[in-house]
Amino acid sequence: MIDLQDLEEAARRHLPRFVFDFVSGGSGQERALRHNAAALEAVRFIPRVLSGETSPTTEVAVFGQRYAAPFGIAPIGMLGLVRDGAETMLARAARAHDIPMILSTAATRTIEEVAAVAEETFWFQYYPTQLPSLNDDLIDRARAFGCRTLMLTVDTPVPGRRLRDLRNGLQIPPRLTPKTLAQLALRPRWALARARIGAPELANLRGAAGEDRRSFADTMKLLSAPSMTWDDVAGLRDRWKGHLLVKGLLHPEDVARCAGLGIDGVVLSNHGGRQLDSAVAPVDVLPACRAQAGTDLTIIADGGIRSGEDVAKCLARGADFVLLGRPFVYAAALGEDRIAPMIALLVSQLENTLSLAGVPMDRLAEVLAGQGETAQQV
Ligand SMILES: Cc1cc2nc3c(=O)[nH]c(=O)nc-3n(C[C@H](O)[C@H](O)[C@H](O)COP(=O)(O)O)c2cc1C
Repeated sequence: MIDLQDLEEAARRHLPRFVFDFVSGGSGQERALRHNAAALEAVRFIPRVLSGETSPTTEVAVFGQRYAAPFGIAPIGMLGLVRDGAETMLARAARAHDIPMILSTAATRTIEEVAAVAEETFWFQYYPTQLPSLNDDLIDRARAFGCRTLMLTVDTPVPGRRLRDLRNGLQIPPRLTPKTLAQLALRPRWALARARIGAPELANLRGAAGEDRRSFADTMKLLSAPSMTWDDVAGLRDRWKGHLLVKGLLHPEDVARCAGLGIDGVVLSNHGGRQLDSAVAPVDVLPACRAQAGTDLTIIADGGIRSGEDVAKCLARGADFVLLGRPFVYAAALGEDRIAPMIALLVSQLENTLSLAGVPMDRLAEVLAGQGETAQQV
C-alpha cells in the first residue's frame, strides 16, 4: 500500500456495489462529500528549511492520555456489513498502535466485546435513541466497561437523504432482491463469507431495533433524535462524569455553547458528507471555531482526511486531533492484516510532512499559507 487511495480501489473491487455505496456515498448530490476533499486540497504550507529536525514526534496527549498519533478511528454504524468482526479487528489495531477506537451505538458488535479488546483506547459514540430505557442502558454499559470518553453525535436530528442507499433499496439487515443478488453474484468471495455467518445486526440495540427488518432510513430514524436540545446536552453533562465530546458541530457559536456547558471536546464534522449536503467542510471553519473554544475545549475534526499530510493540515488550521472514517472501513473490509499497515502509513506520511514543512506538530500553524497567497507573492 503506497497510498490510502489504494485501499478504496481494492475495497471497491472486493465489496458488492450496495455495500460499497453505503460506505463511500454521501447525501443528496454529494456536495459536502466532495467539498471535504476540496477544502483540504486548498490548504497550502510555506515550508521552513534547515531546521535540523530529523525525527519529528507524532505523539499527542488528549483527555489526559497519550496516543501514538493525532488521529483515531471514527465511529461507523453497521461496520460488520463490510466484514464480520470488523469492529473487533479495528479495536485490536487501535490497542496495538495506541490510537483511539470509537465504537458507534449502531455497531454490529457489543460495547462489552469491543471494550474488552480496545481497553484504554476505547471511546463510545452515543446516539440517544427514541427509546429512553435503552439510552440509560447504553450509557451504563459503556461506563461499566471502563469507557472514559463518551461522544454524543448531534448532527442526525433526521437522517440525511443518501440517494445511493435509496436507489439500492438498502435494508437493515440487508434483503435479497434481484438487484442485490446480481451485485452479490459479481462478488462471490464476499457473498460466500457473508452467507456462512448471516446478516449483521445492531448488537447494542438487540430487542429494540433488531426484531424486524427495516429500511435503512427507518433504522436511522430510530437512532435520530429530532427533539434533542441543548438541555439534553447539559443533562448528559451532569450524568456522565468522564470526558464528554459533542460530535457534528460546525458553527463557531455552537462550539462556544459547548465550552460554556463544560463539554471537554467537540468534533467538527459534517458526518463525512452524509447529512446536510451543502454543509461547509470542517477544515474551513476550524480557525473560527478555535477562536470560540477557549483554552479548555479540545477540538477534533473529521471529513475527507486521506493522508498524514491532510492530518497536518487540520492541525495547522487549529485541530488538536482528527478522525478518519471510510479509510478504516475499507481496510477492515479487506481483512485485519490491512489495518496495521494503514496506520503505519499514516504515521510515516505525517512524519514526512513534518520533516518537509520544517516544524514540529505543535507549530504547524506557523507554516500555513494565508488566504490568497501564491508562490510568487511569497
Ligand atoms: C459508513 C459510515 C457509517 C457512519 N456511522 C456513524 C455513526 O454511527 N455515528 C457517527 O457519529 N458517525 C458516523 N459516521 C460518520 C463518521 O464518524 C465520520 O464523521 C466520517 O466518516 C468522517 O469522514 P471520512 O469518512 O471522510 O473520514 C459514519 C460514516 C460512514 C462512512
